[in-house]
Amino acid sequence: MKAQDISRVAVIGAGTMGPGIAGEFARAGCDVRLVDLGPDILRRAMKRLADAHQALIEAKLLSAPKAEAALKSIRPLTSLETACDQVQLLVEALPEDMALKQEMFHRFDALCPEGAVLASNTSGLSITEIARATKRPKLVAGMHFWNPPHIMPLVEVTKGKETSDSTAELVVEMCRRMGKRPILVRHDIPGFIGNRLQYAVLREALHLLSEGIASAEDIDTAMTAGPGLRYGLLGPLRTADLGGLDVYHTISKYLLAELNSDSSPPAVLAEFVEKGRLGAKTGGGFYEYPKEELGKVIRQRDRVLLGFLKVLKEQKGG
Ligand SMILES: NC(=O)c1ccc[n+]([C@@H]2O[C@H](COP(=O)([O-])OP(=O)(O)OC[C@H]3O[C@@H](n4cnc5c(N)ncnc54)[C@H](O)[C@@H]3O)[C@@H](O)[C@H]2O)c1
Repeated sequence: MKAQDISRVAVIGAGTMGPGIAGEFARAGCDVRLVDLGPDILRRAMKRLADAHQALIEAKLLSAPKAEAALKSIRPLTSLETACDQVQLLVEALPEDMALKQEMFHRFDALCPEGAVLASNTSGLSITEIARATKRPKLVAGMHFWNPPHIMPLVEVTKGKETSDSTAELVVEMCRRMGKRPILVRHDIPGFIGNRLQYAVLREALHLLSEGIASAEDIDTAMTAGPGLRYGLLGPLRTADLGGLDVYHTISKYLLAELNSDSSPPAVLAEFVEKGRLGAKTGGGFYEYPKEELGKVIRQRDRVLLGFLKVLKEQKGG
């Protein structure tokens, strides 16, 4: 099977990620079945996807007729049996719970046609372990979209121990067909690549904060007005190339030993969680988010991200 032959896709789970993932496939011309436990959840999911399409239309990244056609090609369903019938690719976006994912992959395996590829949007659970619940581990891969999936270009395609090269290539090619920026994670390691990079930075940022070296705002500015700009464009390795590897080598000699290397969850994070300060969703974390402010912050984030997306699409020639 080639990526261009994929026309029937199922997305299982219509929470934060599922609707956006379904939209990516639908806009690439696939018939999509979107599954969740009840009609209310599915109605909310379709509304969220319509809102995401509206943001793409306003950013001139999508036309209204294409958005309408894409929504029409998604069939919201509560029946897993109907969703799996004749499907060629299934993407699971269920809660991050290994036992649940294994139970569901066992069912997908029984219900989907032989030869269908089963992918998981897990943020970092083992693809090898998930695949063990099936009789087709060669056809199981990680397909980790980033949130919000209608904007973020990255998809991490992860090979489990038994995933075949052709399955991984097919998933990578399908991502390209959707206009995404896939990367291949050759070995099934916790956190794949994106979250490992993200948590390495977060650990140091929390360490600097708890040591009182700088305020939360100044630590964030150190990234957004400094290395974050270059990383956004070049990534850490090309940035090092441009700085000179000899320079990075010299600095590594004294700096790496100074960096935080704790392997337990940061105490400062545990303190905030204990106090119920979970971030934007509870109105406060390292910053305050009054209700009216939260919508503003998210809209501003999405506007800036959509601007980046336009630049990336222009770089690729559309
Ligand atoms: N939220 C994020 O930012 C994000 C980003 C990337 C990857 N992920 C990963 O994607 C997956 C989904 O995350 P999410 O945030 O969308 O979760 P979520 O909790 O928002 O949504 C999960 C959905 O699955 C549904 N569900 C539960 N059991 C079901 C069943 N048996 N049959 C059908 N539907 C069922 C729930 O009703 C819910 O709507 C997780 O593995 C998560 O780690 C999440």
